[in-house]
Amino acid sequence: KTAPLKDKYGRVTDYIRISVTDRCPLRCVYCMPEEGLPFFPTEKVLSQDEIVKVVENFARHGVHSVRLTGGEPLVRTDIVDIVRRVKAVPGVDDVAITTNGLALPKYAKALKEAGLDRLNISLDTFKPEEYKRITRGGNIKQVLKGIQAASELDFEAIKLNVVLIKGQNDDEILDFLKYTIDRKVNVRFIEFMPIGTDQKTWHSEYVSLDSVFETCRQENLSYHSIKSLTGNGPSDNYQIQGAVGSFGLIHPISCQFCENCNRLRITADGYIKACLYWDEEINIRDVIYDEPAFDQLVQKALNTKPENHEMALAQADRIINHQPTWRHMSQIGG
Ligand code: GTP
Ligand code: 5AD
Ligand code: SF4
Repeated sequence: KTAPLKDKYGRVTDYIRISVTDRCPLRCVYCMPEEGLPFFPTEKVLSQDEIVKVVENFARHGVHSVRLTGGEPLVRTDIVDIVRRVKAVPGVDDVAITTNGLALPKYAKALKEAGLDRLNISLDTFKPEEYKRITRGGNIKQVLKGIQAASELDFEAIKLNVVLIKGQNDDEILDFLKYTIDRKVNVRFIEFMPIGTDQKTWHSEYVSLDSVFETCRQENLSYHSIKSLTGNGPSDNYQIQGAVGSFGLIHPISCQFCENCNRLRITADGYIKACLYWDEEINIRDVIYDEPAFDQLVQKALNTKPENHEMALAQADRIINHQPTWRHMSQIGG
């Protein structure tokens, strides 16, 4: 093992998020434009061998945790093999996937057997019609079946991702909170981020997560902060008194968490993105099998990592006219 990966501000990277495809059968309103996106041609997307080698390269520097994202990672027909091989890389002790859940009835068991530790599943509403609208065509029954299949398999954690959008699903906060009472899941409310979306629409649809605490107060639900949940992400976690599950808040806009940032992102087309909200990218595709050159580019990427992102509301007026990245969320992997 060689030296840990440090950025200019002393933050150590021990976690990578690899987008294994930009494809997805859905087009969630906060993630992809209505008309869809041209997908990367297959030859532009990292192969299974390249993904495994990238993980090996990072693991030499102390990266022990890997999240596979998309688009939708489960559209890759070799996803189970990817999980198995990534989990077998020396030094890697945590492999997770973020998925829309549609393919979990088919894949949950095989993923668990391949060594997958944790699953994060997007579910923004419990209403079938609303689900269909938000995802532009998805069938909620399929996701609920997927969540059920996963919850029978003893994963270390199952988390549900709920992106709150004003006037669309912010009337369901209480339903999501109640969902945690007798189920061993972590429901994470996420602030809508202005990435790949029209900035004006974003501004009018953004909901601060204070509304979650507000709902608890109105409904007399007492809750306490918990620290014990496995995860690498920016979620602050809480538990309602007496609940089996828990809830989390991911609030990039109203409350900054960048000082604890521990991650790099690798896009499906082989670029390191040092920050979700930053447009500098470094292409590593050509140096994957050349370790010294790879290490050099990783350090270069780390040097571009900003201290903070610019999503804070205080800066909203300025960013209304500023697109920080050409990529849509589905081309980054969240
Ligand atoms: P764990 O905590 O390890 O379970 O992962 P996670 O919550 O980071 O992963 P997930 O893919 O489920 O992401 C949940 C939400 O957090 C998504 O909306 C991501 O875009 C957001 N997120 C994850 N990492 C960052 C980050 O570094 N910065 C910002 N602004 N948002 C992030
Ligand atoms: N803002 C916040 N979260 C988003 N996600 C996708 N787009 C956005 C956005 N604009 C979340 C999804 C998914 C995760 C990978 O990223 O909920 O679960
Ligand atoms: Fe697909 Fe996930 Fe984006 Fe929805 S949020 S369109 S499920 S990649």
